[in-house]
Order: sequence, then structure tokens, then C-alpha cells
Amino acid sequence: MKTELIHLSELSPEAYDKALEKAAEYIRAGELVGIPTETVYGLAGSAYHADAAPKIFAAKGRPSDNPLIVHIAKSTDAENIAYTNPVYYKLAERFMPGPLTIILPKKPIIPDTVSGGLDTVAVRCPSHPIARALIEISGHPIAAPSANTSGKPSPTTAEHVYDDMCGKIPLILDGGPCSIGLESTVIALNGDKCTILRPGAVTEEMLSELCTSVTVAEAVKSPDKAGSKPLSPGMKYKHYAPNCQVVLLDGTEDECIAYIQNHASGKYGVLAADENTNAYPEKAHVLSLGGRDDYAEHCRRLFDLLRKADELQLETLYARLPEEKGLALAYYNRIIRAAGGNIVKANENLK
Ligand code: TXA
Ligand code: MG
Repeated sequence: MKTELIHLSELSPEAYDKALEKAAEYIRAGELVGIPTETVYGLAGSAYHADAAPKIFAAKGRPSDNPLIVHIAKSTDAENIAYTNPVYYKLAERFMPGPLTIILPKKPIIPDTVSGGLDTVAVRCPSHPIARALIEISGHPIAAPSANTSGKPSPTTAEHVYDDMCGKIPLILDGGPCSIGLESTVIALNGDKCTILRPGAVTEEMLSELCTSVTVAEAVKSPDKAGSKPLSPGMKYKHYAPNCQVVLLDGTEDECIAYIQNHASGKYGVLAADENTNAYPEKAHVLSLGGRDDYAEHCRRLFDLLRKADELQLETLYARLPEEKGLALAYYNRIIRAAGGNIVKANENLK
């Protein structure tokens, strides 16, 4: 299959409308389109069309028991696909459109192939104008996982999608780099108590302002626990991993720098804060994460840098273990998975 990549920013208003109509045609026909969202690029197919979900699983190489998120144009459209409740609307008022996904009991219109056989469905209303326009124009809610090959870092540019999906889908819409760079926060509700199944840009602290209690699922902070009876099936798979070995260093900045100076060998890279880019040995491939405390920038750059590590054919990639609160928890969750839980104390074994 030939894959067309359309750069929307280069188009006249008429050509832009035509490109979106073309994408909408594909969606209505049960075909797949790579689309930008504010979090990561999605592999979009109609949530109503029986053919679409199996194509999504095949294109990604993803196990079909891992359910898909269904994207809607406005929060009240959840009524078409799920049984809502007042807490859903309280959260929707604050966080939708935006990077929050809420698990709700599903209505029969959502095929089992979309929900992975569960009796719930994950509902998200994205804020990206192109994603929203496509849902509206096609008239279908859109099932969309991240548009990467299963196990690889999620795509944050159209080029990433092209690298993984070329020859597998007919169309990719390029809407520029994603502004958040990590996937949405996924939550389950029990009354007005909430459990974070996957952390994202809507943080525990933000949810606590509206829910009586917010719990972070155990699997979020531990890749090892992910296999045992997961609340969110996606958490049990190896995720976000580049080909190289990722080593997370647990220690102060200076300890981590010293560890790399003393221990790193072979072809290696470092995910480094801007303040430290000159602190590493000359042979280190330094990949900048942005300012030391700028976790929004860390999130925006992480997946692109993991893909760069593979382009550079690094054997090892070092990074500092981040904090586990606020937006840093989302970054922490992805990077411990990229590292497969490989965490090393930076202050031990110093020469
Ligand atoms: O930001 C995002 O959420 C992106 C963009 C494209 O919207 N989408 C995304 O989808 O990350 P995906 O399929 O890569 O991740 C969906 C996550 C998985 O961990 C899946 O197991 C979980 O949501 N999930 C989906 N439906 C669920 C359900 N009914 N119950 C529990 N977890 C569910
Ligand atoms: Mg994904």
C-alpha cells in the first residue's frame, strides 16, 4: 500500500479542507489515518466500523486484548458510546478537550474489538484542532492508539508515524510536532474516587482538586508489577523501548555525571539537562532534554530522543531517574518502561 503524507501547514484553506475530507472518507470506509493530537500521533479508525480495529491491531503489531481509546469531538458525545455519570461531567468541564481519558461502562454500539472484550470503554476528547475536525467531519467517534509499532516509542511527529506505518496505512496528516509529547492521563472512576492507570499531563494534583481521593495504580511506578492482573491492560506490555539498553541512574546530578565519567563505555548517549550538556566525556552522545526542572520539555522531547538513540545506533543510553510527582510522574512512568526497570545507584562503585 502506498502511504501519502500530507503536510497541512503548507496548504491553502481549500486544499486543507480537501485533505481533511479525504481523511474523513477513509475513516468512514473503515480505513486508517495517522493523525496529530496534542499528546502523541494517533492511528485513527472509526470506532463504529467493524473493519477498523482489527486493521489497527495488525498495523501496530499490537495484541488485540489491549483496548483502544475512543476519541470524541465534545464531552457530551460520550452519551453515544458510554454510560456517563456526574463525576465524568465535573472532570470534563475542567479537562476536556484535553489530555484526559476516562474509563466508563460501554454501550453496545462499541464493538468488542475496540474495547478488547472489556465491558468498559476509554473516552477522550482531544484538543488538537485537526483531530477534532476529523471526528466532526467524518461523523464517527475515532478509535486511536498511538501510531507507533507496538513496543516502540510513541510518535510525536508525522515523520515518526511514517517511519513505523509506511506501506501499512493510506494516509498520514502532518500537523507538526505534538505540544505535550506523552500520551493522555488514563483514569478509572469509582463514585468520585479516581485511580490513575496511566499518568499524563493532567496530574494527580490537578485531579485531586475535583475528586475526593486520587490513587495512583501500583503499575504506574513499577514496570515489574505491570504483569500481574493489570487494571489497564496496556500497562502489562513492554513499552516505549528503543533498541539500545537504557540505564537509569538514581542519585544527585553530580553523582550521575561522575558515574557516567567512570563507568560508561562503548557507544553511549546521555539524556541530559541543558545545564549539564558540557559535563560529559567528549565521546558521549549528549541528547538534550531541556532545562533541569522543565518536565514539560522533558515530556515533549523524550520519545523523539529515544528514537534518535536508535538512529545513532547507541549501545547504551543513560538518564537520571526523575522525581515521581506532578508532571514528572508521567515522564518517570515512560522512562522506567523504556529502561525495563534497569535502575542503578549512581553513588555506588565509584572509582
Ligand atoms: O494520548 C493518548 O491517549 C493517545 C492519543 C492518540 O490519543 N492514545 C493512546 O492510545 O495512547 P494507546 O492505545 O496507545 O493507549 C491506551 C491505553 C492503554 O494503556 C490501554 O490499555 C488503556 O489505555 N485502555 C484503553 N481502554 C481501556 C479500558 N477500557 N480499561 C482500562 N484501560 C484501557
Ligand atoms: Mg501506545
